[in-house]
Amino acid sequence: MAPNHQPKIDIRGLSTSFRDSRRSRRNGRGADDVHVLRDVNLTVREGEFLCIVGPSGCGKSTLLNIIAGFIKATRGEVFIDGRPVTGPDPRRIFIFQENGIFPWLTVEENIGFGLLDAKPAERRETVAHYVRVVGLNGFERAYPHALSGGMKQRVEIARALAANPDVLYMDEPFGALDFLTRLRMRAELVEIWQREKKTVLFVTHDVDESVQLADRVVVMSQRPAAVADIVGVDVPRPRDMDAPEMLRARERIFEVMGFAHAGAGHAPEEGRPAAAPEAGQPAVSQAPAAAAVSRPPVAAAAPRSAAKGA
Ligand SMILES: Nc1ncnc2c1ncn2[C@@H]1O[C@H](COP(=O)(O)OP(=O)(O)OP(=O)(O)O)[C@@H](O)[C@H]1O
Ligand SMILES: [Mg+2]
Repeated sequence: MAPNHQPKIDIRGLSTSFRDSRRSRRNGRGADDVHVLRDVNLTVREGEFLCIVGPSGCGKSTLLNIIAGFIKATRGEVFIDGRPVTGPDPRRIFIFQENGIFPWLTVEENIGFGLLDAKPAERRETVAHYVRVVGLNGFERAYPHALSGGMKQRVEIARALAANPDVLYMDEPFGALDFLTRLRMRAELVEIWQREKKTVLFVTHDVDESVQLADRVVVMSQRPAAVADIVGVDVPRPRDMDAPEMLRARERIFEVMGFAHAGAGHAPEEGRPAAAPEAGQPAVSQAPAAAAVSRPPVAAAAPRSAAKGA
């Protein structure tokens, strides 16, 4: 589904450093700063599904936490609907990798948790709707300990959606799930997103996951991370992971991440970004028309054949 083009989130010149107290104790001098984000500029459209990928430790979670208002940036600002973000907002919900549902509440109590102010009948109706949306019919009275990892994650997604958020932040939400459950959850998330039209910011280190889900994939450079490229995935859903446009998008992302040539079986060196990012917002690159880049090394590529249909 094509999103409309209203800007929803506007990220302007974000830079962030953390104090490294461990390092400062070791060398006995003043605290060193760990520079995490460097002049990140990005606009997210209303209703867009945006994925953020990048090397481990580059600052993806930090970026998401700043946008969500949990961390204050050292420099720069985030605007949502034209207003500066000054702290967390209950209309915007964060879904973490670790399971965040309450073990002492049933599935339906968890899903209805954010609806305590609603009238009982309205609340029951909303909960029943989201139980159906995430396919947990029959498990309404079950407690989390009796659910699989994928089912618990679905409860968490249903609870987030039931609160009718206008933005969903997801930080590797499927990272702890097994491969097949992850594929199923991606397909379900795409279906839900197509129905609910929320703006979604989804962090992942899995390039296949990003091209399967996103309208655009933001590729971060090594730390201190900037936006190295934005790759548009203009492919209708459900997507065939083996379609040429999908392979091109995937190859473009790997190229930006430093896996440009077959046989280059290593990641770019620490501190040497694969693509020198420019200050300011980069243009969205569509995947190259010709397969100018070859496949990434086998070790970096997840199997695609099982990933059809999301
Ligand atoms: N509160 C903090 N205090 C000090 N350093 C921090 C803090 N939070 C993050 N960092 C550092 O900032 C850098 C980026 O961390 P972040 O968690 O944002 O990376 P990431 O891209 O999400 O990594 P991963 O892919 O492994 O989840 C890391 O070097 C991390 O050690
Ligand atoms: Mg992270």
